Amino acid sequence: MYAIIGASGNTGSVVTGRLLAHGEEVRVIGRDPSRLERFIEKGAEAMAADVGDAAALTRAFTGAKAVYLMIPPNPSSPNVREDQERVSDALVAAVQNAGAEYAVVLSSVGADKPDRTGPVVGLHNLEQKLNGVAALQAVYLRAGYFMENLLPQVGVIQNFGVVGGPLRSDLKVAMIATRDIGVAAAEALLKLEFTGKQARELLGQRHLTYQEVASIIGHAIGKPDLGYMQLGPAQLKPALTQMGMSSNMADLLLEMSEALNSGYMAPLEPRSAQNTTPTSIETFVAEQIVPRFTGKAAGA
Ligand SMILES: NC(=O)c1ccc[n+]([C@@H]2O[C@H](COP(=O)([O-])OP(=O)(O)OC[C@H]3O[C@@H](n4cnc5c(N)ncnc54)[C@H](OP(=O)(O)O)[C@@H]3O)[C@@H](O)[C@H]2O)c1
Repeated sequence: MYAIIGASGNTGSVVTGRLLAHGEEVRVIGRDPSRLERFIEKGAEAMAADVGDAAALTRAFTGAKAVYLMIPPNPSSPNVREDQERVSDALVAAVQNAGAEYAVVLSSVGADKPDRTGPVVGLHNLEQKLNGVAALQAVYLRAGYFMENLLPQVGVIQNFGVVGGPLRSDLKVAMIATRDIGVAAAEALLKLEFTGKQARELLGQRHLTYQEVASIIGHAIGKPDLGYMQLGPAQLKPALTQMGMSSNMADLLLEMSEALNSGYMAPLEPRSAQNTTPTSIETFVAEQIVPRFTGKAAGA
């Protein structure tokens, strides 16, 4: 049996769908059972548990041979890093108490660094804490920058006529569609071939600059001159807090952006067949961005 944290989310839903399609026994975990309904209909067992509740997580992991772990984003928290530590403590305690043998863990490029990477420090610490569980076999999927981070750009383009953000316009970023992470995680869970503790980078289909992304979006929406504008912290922080982020989360994102811009936070591996995944930015834009302009997006 597999237990899946974040089963209703971007990556967890793909992991769950693929395991169920293979006829596997799956326990899906989330705060809101109604969001897990679609998996129950396909044979999954649902369990409500908060990721900060070690006892509830222990019950949810009991009987699972392998677990899919993540620290769910909590962008409105006034102290994101403290929350991350509380969650990673609970996840690790539950893995230990339930005696799970295998874990596939959603981590990030930059999780090799112990500091100055904003929210990614929480993923570094999660890896470190899991390294202390001797009996566990774990693979840390160090994913690149999610293409889903581009979705708020729809509003930015509609309001300001540009793509805007904190990253340098010429910075090559490994951008990945979350479904590719879900597919890789499901494959790792189905095979269970990893031993010890391993980090594996997932770098998307190719590296891209925001300038290139703006041009690709522009061509797809009939604005071929669409450009990218790098914004400084003074412009960005109010915009991020207006979107519902806490001031603390906005500061962490700006710290992470600085780490990316300076090259401190970057993939460790050269691009290879093993860390390259299939979904291109053109496909992501056609499927996820264009429908949001035409009002035809699922759930938009
Ligand atoms: N954005 C990036 O570029 C990037 C890059 C690399 C790594 N990451 C990492 O990726 C992770 C996010 O992955 P994702 O996009 O797949 O997540 P997601 O779509 O945001 O989903 C989060 C899931 O967690 C559940 N959840 C939220 N709070 C919970 C709680 N307190 N207790 C139990 N369940 C809870 C949610 O379900 P309910 O709401 O139903 O409870 C949801 O299913 C984060 O750790 C992030 O640091 C992000």
